[in-house]
Amino acid sequence: MGNSEAGHARLRRAFIGAFSDTATKEVHAPVIEKYVHLWIGQFKAMIEKNGKENGGTSAEPAETWTNTTATVDMISWLNFLTFDISGDLSFGESFGSTARGEPHAWVDIANGYGKGIALIASLNYFVAPLQKLLRFVMPASVRRKMAYHQNWTAQKVRKRLEFKKDRADFMGAVLKYNNQPVKTKEEKVSIQELELNMATFIFAGSETTSSALAVVLFELLKAPDILKRVQDEVRSAFEREKDIDVARCSKLEYLSAVINEGIRIGPPSVIGVPRVVKGHGEEVCGKWVPGGTYLAVNQYAAFHATANFTDPSKFQPERFLTPDADAKTSNDNLAVFQPFLVGRHTCIGQKFAWAEMRLVLARLLFAFDISRAETNSATVNVGDWGEQKTFIFWEKEPLHVSLKKRVS
Ligand code: HEM
Repeated sequence: MGNSEAGHARLRRAFIGAFSDTATKEVHAPVIEKYVHLWIGQFKAMIEKNGKENGGTSAEPAETWTNTTATVDMISWLNFLTFDISGDLSFGESFGSTARGEPHAWVDIANGYGKGIALIASLNYFVAPLQKLLRFVMPASVRRKMAYHQNWTAQKVRKRLEFKKDRADFMGAVLKYNNQPVKTKEEKVSIQELELNMATFIFAGSETTSSALAVVLFELLKAPDILKRVQDEVRSAFEREKDIDVARCSKLEYLSAVINEGIRIGPPSVIGVPRVVKGHGEEVCGKWVPGGTYLAVNQYAAFHATANFTDPSKFQPERFLTPDADAKTSNDNLAVFQPFLVGRHTCIGQKFAWAEMRLVLARLLFAFDISRAETNSATVNVGDWGEQKTFIFWEKEPLHVSLKKRVS
């Protein structure tokens, strides 16, 4: 969001209206609910199809079918869902991935960007002149993909600006900000700025949320007792599936603890965006840091340090069940746990992320009994989330999950 602090503050002011409590309740919640419903519906349809293919007929009740499971790669399906939700709220239409069960080229390219940015940033830092050569040595296919991505985003921004002018989505909030009579031309956000920022914005809201959900599921599938406890909480809170909505899910305490603990084990913003110390230097956390030093909070290291957490590799949601002092492990320093950052650059979409994460898990755990699917995939070899690579974001291995229609 902007290259300078002043530029950042201006863009943040323009977007902040999109994240008010009213927007969360009236605009975001129905969109999130609509896509999560579609997502769950796709899994049910897969189970139904599998049941019929394995000897069932549509005349029989589904409970009697020999096979009532479906196996899905959650990494892909979570990406379909979160990008569709952000796409709808940004461009007025989704990427159509949840409905089709297929990735969209735009999303695939965006997912490769983390690695690209990491490479460019490293070249820039260590061998700055080489970075200038990068555009000459970059393969034509990569340049074509980048051009496609930029053009597609620009077209979508322009299309969105032409219609639904009063829709109170992410872009609608910026338009409202621009239309305030007191705003000077310099303060307003230009179309070019929107074209440049919307791709990052969608990525910031989708990849992170899907990563968080992925690590939560990854850990739950390894911890049957915790899975049962959270499933019991969800199933006893709601009688019917259609009662599960964003507002009601916010009251599920154990589910929230499970999500926090998953994020602690595998923070989506794993390495953190670095900042450069200005001037001669500054005192940071009680230590003098010379000017020009790159500083970042390495969330993974901070959340896995024994100085901060007892048994840091252990998935133990009870840590977050304050004020239950007995359950909370004595040595945990929860103040360290700031996955959304703090200060002027703190995540603008955290309430949105929470709404999405709680609803996805509640609907999934309510409707299905889940287990790790037996496959030959590399995932089976990933015993610890931290074994996976990161290039700014996690490069996640597939996570095959078996979904079975709930029996109780
Ligand atoms: C679990 C999910 C999420 C996590 C862990 C997360 C984490 C973060 C972090 C750590 C930052 C600060 C980056 C920096 O160092 O500057 C950030 C910024 C940001 N996030 Fe999130 N985020 C999540 C979800 C979302 C969602 C759902 C949205 C939008 C719908 C969003 C939009 C943004 C934006 C626009 C910024 C830049 C804010 C600024 O520079 O002022 N994020 N996020």
